[in-house]
Amino acid sequence: DAPNTDYDLFRPLTSNVGFRQSLPSYGDAHFSLFLRKAFIKAAGYSDDALSRPIIGIVNTYSSFNPCHANIPQLIDAVKRGVQLNGGLAIDFPTISLHETFASPTSMYLRNLMSMDTEEMIRAQPCDAVVLIGGCDKTTPAQLMGGISANKPILHLVTGPMMPGSHNGVRLGACTDCRNNWAKFRAGGLDIEEISAVNDELAPTAGTCGVMGTASTMACILVALGMMPFKGASAPAVSSTRLRIAEQTGANAVTAFKKQLKPQEILTRESFLNAITVLQAIGGSTNAVVHLMAIIGRHPGVAGSINLDTIDEIGRKTPLLVDLKPSGENYMTDFHNSGGMATLLHELKPLLYLDAMTVTGRTLGEELASVPFARVPKESPVYCIQPFKEPLYSSSSLVVLRGNLAPGGAVIKASASKYRHLLRHSGRAVVFAGSADLTRRIDDPDLEVSADSVLVLQNIGPKGNPGMPEAGLIPIPRKLGAQGVQDMLRISDGRISGTAGGTIVVHVSPEAADPESILGIVRDGDIITCDVEERVIKIDIPDAEMKRRLEERQKHLQSQRDGGNAQSFVAPEQARGYRGLYIRSVTQAQQGADFDFLTAAGPS
Ligand code: FES
Ligand code: MG
Repeated sequence: DAPNTDYDLFRPLTSNVGFRQSLPSYGDAHFSLFLRKAFIKAAGYSDDALSRPIIGIVNTYSSFNPCHANIPQLIDAVKRGVQLNGGLAIDFPTISLHETFASPTSMYLRNLMSMDTEEMIRAQPCDAVVLIGGCDKTTPAQLMGGISANKPILHLVTGPMMPGSHNGVRLGACTDCRNNWAKFRAGGLDIEEISAVNDELAPTAGTCGVMGTASTMACILVALGMMPFKGASAPAVSSTRLRIAEQTGANAVTAFKKQLKPQEILTRESFLNAITVLQAIGGSTNAVVHLMAIIGRHPGVAGSINLDTIDEIGRKTPLLVDLKPSGENYMTDFHNSGGMATLLHELKPLLYLDAMTVTGRTLGEELASVPFARVPKESPVYCIQPFKEPLYSSSSLVVLRGNLAPGGAVIKASASKYRHLLRHSGRAVVFAGSADLTRRIDDPDLEVSADSVLVLQNIGPKGNPGMPEAGLIPIPRKLGAQGVQDMLRISDGRISGTAGGTIVVHVSPEAADPESILGIVRDGDIITCDVEERVIKIDIPDAEMKRRLEERQKHLQSQRDGGNAQSFVAPEQARGYRGLYIRSVTQAQQGADFDFLTAAGPS
């Protein structure tokens, strides 16, 4: 239905791909254009402006989202880049998710954001789109939606915050939030001091300043070729960040002209590069879930990469980046020591350098265009190890399997504080959910020792719902006071990318699933975790396991039949987004996406 040249008046619009595609139909294609042009002119654009490629800019600013506080400035800079390269930039909003202000969890809303992003990219007449985001769930949601919409997309993250300082010690959200809180709980900090720390943990706009989920996803976006090298690490408040924004705007016009769409740019090799980077940076466990969801959106890659791929790549990838929570430094140090360009140069032997990027050049060509620079070892910002001198020889993120997690579970071995726990058997102390945990964890009579295995059930995708970051089960206060800082902890939930400890998460199937073995663990059961052997298992006889499962089925059935009608809502009866979520969310190893949004789902 391409509008034809008889309609000279509309040529500026009709020659514009964005305005031509996906016209809302008012019955007559030319009338639709006419109407559209009338309304866009109300915004004051000239015919010349409207004849340019239209670059949409997704604005996820919200006053509830300090991680995105610099977005207004970034939009200005992107617009400048677009316009310097001959395009017309038009920004529009999608929802904004901050980690700590999204109830019940930001993860619960990630898929909603991905739907918002996908549909708004599709709906509006953009030729290419710059996705501005940064906080943990934002970049995955945007990439999931962007891949599904499949118009040229370019990512621009808001960038990490600067570190703060307390008594001469640097601080940064949110690894130090947790460390200091644990110290306070154990009686090592008083109330005045913990309040002073609170003032300094997030001292500027931007995303968490450690290798948490936001930074991990930013590094992954660079590895995928969706962002310039410095894009992952330039501080939110830096002028470099603004220049990256300008460059991204300019790149967007080129990406449109070359029709660089995500389903074509991103290949299996791109994702293997991303996983290599994830392992080398000691990245967030959350990135595993997000990557599975992102890959699941890509018709050409879905099914060819799974949890085992992450483990296999881990076995040959050294941990090179010394950042909290696995190490000691902050994102600003990573940036100042060369950031992703230096890291990718180090990782070259493991990378697929032919993978394409949003500039239309390959990753190898992009790398060849920046000199391989290393800061001296003595430098205070030094935090990227040479390939041959890793911090940890391999497998910072490990996938475990066994009767406790037939669908898999994940542990960030590099963030374990007591390494002997990486091979450990102990008696389970089981909590039935977050509320039960809160009620009993600090009970002086709780039967628990440093060798116990803390198990938390029902914080999985469906269970809570929303898979909260509650997997960092606190050390019982009485043990904390004795100096215990780490224990083996297991759940079907997630942990913040900024958390450390010997913590097994994403156990699948989750406890809320009627078939789940995690769901039938009881106090005193012996649980074994062996990272070397990749095993997570429970030692109870088969007959007993079968008996417990049957008992559980009966219990669930009686709930369904109305035995507990007040508190039990059958998924098919839950209303609104919550109903959609409970009915459609997949397990962690599939990315906790909605089944109907995946490439394998309905077309
Ligand atoms: Fe937004 Fe950590 S809270 S990145
Ligand atoms: Mg986080």
